[in-house]
Order: sequence, then C-alpha cells, then structure tokens
Amino acid sequence: MRITPSILTADFTRLGDTIDSAISAGIDWIHLDVMDGNWVVNKTITFGPALIRSIREHLGPDIFLDCHLMVTNAEETWRQYVDAGVNLVIAHIEAIENPQTLISDLHSAGVQAGLVLNPSTDPALVLPYLSDLDLVLVMSVIPGKGGQSFMPEVEEKVKFFRSAIDKQINSGGRNTLLMIDGGIKSHNAKLVADWGIDIAVVGSGLINSKGTISENLDEIRSSINN
Ligand code: DX5
Ligand code: ZN
Repeated sequence: MRITPSILTADFTRLGDTIDSAISAGIDWIHLDVMDGNWVVNKTITFGPALIRSIREHLGPDIFLDCHLMVTNAEETWRQYVDAGVNLVIAHIEAIENPQTLISDLHSAGVQAGLVLNPSTDPALVLPYLSDLDLVLVMSVIPGKGGQSFMPEVEEKVKFFRSAIDKQINSGGRNTLLMIDGGIKSHNAKLVADWGIDIAVVGSGLINSKGTISENLDEIRSSINN
C-alpha cells in the first residue's frame, strides 16, 4: 500500500521544508485538500490554485499531485487546478451534477479523473462510472479537517469497491486505484491494507510533533509489514 501525505496539518509558513522532508523520506505522491468555505459541514477554507501552483513549481514535474476537491462548484473550477499542475482531480460524487461529463473533460485535458464518496454515501452511486475512473476515494472521516478519528464502518464500502475493481481488472478493464482518506495511522494502516486499499492518505499521522516525517513513515510501513 502506497502512502501519500495530506499537507492539511502542516505549518504553512514552513510548507516548502515539510514537502522537502516528505520527498527525502521517499514520498512521490502528495494529496492536496481543497475546501472552499462552503461545501464541508464546518465551512473550512484551506487553499486554492495559487498555492498548488507554487508547490508544483517547487517540486518540478516528477512528483504526482492529486487534488481532493471539497467544493460546491468542481464542475466549473476544475480547470484552475489542472492549470496549477495537478495530475489527478478527485471530485465528490455528492457535489457534482454530471460525473460522466467531468470525467471526460478531465481526460481530454490530459489529467486523471477520480471520484470520492463520504462515509454515508451509497457506493452504488459511483459504480456506473468505475470503468472510466483512474481512482476511487473512500472517505473514512467526514471531510472538513485533519486529525479526526477513523470510521471503521467504511470496511463494507471499501470491500465493495475492491471486489468491483478486481472484477473489472479480471475482465480486461482499467485498474482503478482504491484510496482511503481520514484517520489513518500506524495502528490501523495494516487493517486498511488488508482490505485491499492501494493508496492511503495520511495527514496528522505523518506531519506531527511526535516524530519526523521519515520516522512516522517508517513506523507506518513497518506496521503494515508486521
Ligand atoms: C479531510 C481530508 C483528509 C484529512 C487527512 O477532510 O480530506 O485528507 O485531512 O488527515 P488525517 O490523516 O489527519 O485524518
Ligand atoms: Zn483529502
């Protein structure tokens, strides 16, 4: 299971250093949590295309950037994030009107397309688009902030997608990646790896005052391998 850091709990005055530490620790994928002050229940604002563009310029072209859009108007604004340099746009199924059009538009723009669903959302809503998706993200917290507790009840949803994606791969279809986001730490990383997650987003479990990113990453990786 690949680990990607969410920078949401970083000290933004030291963001360049934090990102450099993650890259030195072997990270090659960064998760960017965009909130517009409207869509998430706690009305948080995080950051937008300007900061993402600076991150892209700082990193150069080789690091993969995904953009988790927790916004009301993803269908109108996604291009700003693509222009800022993200490789993958992940939109909430609950927040968009026409997923198929958005997926096609993203692919035409030369980037990958993902859909994300909240812990309470029916996975059947995402299923019709699975064969065209590069990634499905299952939220394991209610989106809005870092540092929340993992919701183990998403197990059924993860396993639903794991089985649907395995069927798709076995019939010659796309290897849609399965991602989880929220509350992943060294104590539950092995659990979600065993559920069949391909990529885990880790925010406060990696960027915290307990250890360096490298130390925290080692702890998570060894918990998975034990
Ligand atoms: C929640 C965000 C997550 C989250 C990850 O709205 O999408 O990416 O902040 O942070 P932790 O790992 O601290 O839950
Ligand atoms: Zn996220």
